[in-house]
Amino acid sequence: MAEHIDGNAVAAEIRSELEGAIETLADAGARPGLATVLMGDDPASQTYVNMKQRDCEEVGIEGHHIDVDGDADPETLYETIDSLNADDDVHGYLVQDPVPDHVDYREVIRRIAPEKDVDGFHPENVGRLVAGDARFRPCTPHGVQKLLEASDVETEGADVTIVGRSRIVGKPLANLLVQKADDGNATVTVCHSRTEDLAAKTRQADILVAAVGVPNMIDESMVSDGTVVIDVGINRVDADTEKGYELVGDVDFDAVEPKASKITPVPGGVGPMTRAMLLYNTVKAASIQEG
Ligand code: GUN
Repeated sequence: MAEHIDGNAVAAEIRSELEGAIETLADAGARPGLATVLMGDDPASQTYVNMKQRDCEEVGIEGHHIDVDGDADPETLYETIDSLNADDDVHGYLVQDPVPDHVDYREVIRRIAPEKDVDGFHPENVGRLVAGDARFRPCTPHGVQKLLEASDVETEGADVTIVGRSRIVGKPLANLLVQKADDGNATVTVCHSRTEDLAAKTRQADILVAAVGVPNMIDESMVSDGTVVIDVGINRVDADTEKGYELVGDVDFDAVEPKASKITPVPGGVGPMTRAMLLYNTVKAASIQEG
């Protein structure tokens, strides 16, 4: 029986530390501000930005939200970005991904002022992270690091296998964990859709991170006894519930849990950490800009 890593509890600790930092900023006359921008009306994205706004309110960050019509041309979104870059009350902001097909998200990211890019997606911030000089660590990888730390999981010398090479999770997490700094010092294997004998790579892991977006993909045959299993997946699957769906991870929890030494649940594992680290980056942005 594995220890269940409680993301809600670790996130709550991080949020209470942030509340202290926010009070210190308030004493100096500054209130951190975070803006969310949503282009279009994707229901999952709406849920995510609503949660981010609620989080802001709860910890004392000033939340701003801007909706951009899904049919608008890219210039309209760029104008919103330019105005946020110039707005001194907004210390950090993000454009929720995905954007409509006629908009190139890479162009969008490049337009965001790097010092306000609390997602850590701008090429300057990606470059700094890879160079071992991160300004903003992307929220999910940073949340995974904090979860491992809070659960006393040693990364130094550990074999970490990450399944998924996304720009948001797999690649930045691999870069962080392999570094000397950041308490990483791990040996990292990054797997993806063309990886041969995936199960051999996942079975060699001391720490297995699933970040592919495929429901229940990691089963018990892919996990060795005693592995720490971190499930980044949040997949909506049809279910006979009030909302018509339920959230499941990339890991088949019931099958894998008996073999793991520690495991994150979905929901209540990595998800709350991602949200907490966005607040963390916003407070960091405000401290730099107001400092
Ligand atoms: N869509 C899904 N995850 C994210 C995220 O971390 N940031 C942004 N901007 N959009 C997302």
